[in-house]
Amino acid sequence: MADGRIIKTEGKVGGIVIKDDWPGYRLDLFTYPEHYSGDLECVYIPHGIIMDRTERLARNIMDDLGDHDIVVLCVLKGGYQFCADLVEFIKALSRNSNKSLLMRVDFIRLKSYLNDQSTEDLHIIGAEDLSVLNGKNVLIVEAIVDTGKTMKALLKHVEKFRPKMVKVAGLLVKRVPNGVGSLPDYVGFEIPNRFVVGYALDYNEYFRDLNHICVISEKGKIKYKI
Ligand code: IMP
Repeated sequence: MADGRIIKTEGKVGGIVIKDDWPGYRLDLFTYPEHYSGDLECVYIPHGIIMDRTERLARNIMDDLGDHDIVVLCVLKGGYQFCADLVEFIKALSRNSNKSLLMRVDFIRLKSYLNDQSTEDLHIIGAEDLSVLNGKNVLIVEAIVDTGKTMKALLKHVEKFRPKMVKVAGLLVKRVPNGVGSLPDYVGFEIPNRFVVGYALDYNEYFRDLNHICVISEKGKIKYKI
């Protein structure tokens, strides 16, 4: 699946690298909802591996930020599952070690995609008043960074509320030729430039109810196109 190689950019660790030629796992090796049969090409990252990697990210976050108070800012909708699981692992570490991390959780909803294309307009929906971030240590939790445009715009927005510190956790970072942003501080997986769904990542609001991260099939793209 991956060569376990770690990429470092500006002192940040880029996560597990999934190579361009990774074909994914055959669908019949795993379970997934019957209603998506024919709509997927392969299981790209199984749910168990996502969870194991998230557990380690939680530990890295705890090592860096333990004994601070933080505000976790979950980027909806795609980030809800990763955020919930990450927070669960941090909570378990807080219960079972000498370090503890007081967390508040807030949400922001962004939308920039239509079908499988990033659009120029980024809409911030809800929680526009983030004055709760003033003077706080903020951990932005996002499921996927593609071109980096969304993250760049969000960081600019968050900075307006004068937080003390901002860190970013991204489950997936895509290798794209014209990426604009910097790498998140905590990265789960670095993936090729393919459109993926599942684990709360959607294609026009479908596939959020899929546990694994999968590659959508051409048939699936046509079926749910708007
Ligand atoms: P960016 O601004 O190009 O980095 O796009 C980031 C946003 O696009 C993410 O927050 C997702 O909502 C969405 N996105 C990008 N790539 C994918 C994908 O492969 N699957 C599902 N959503 C994606």
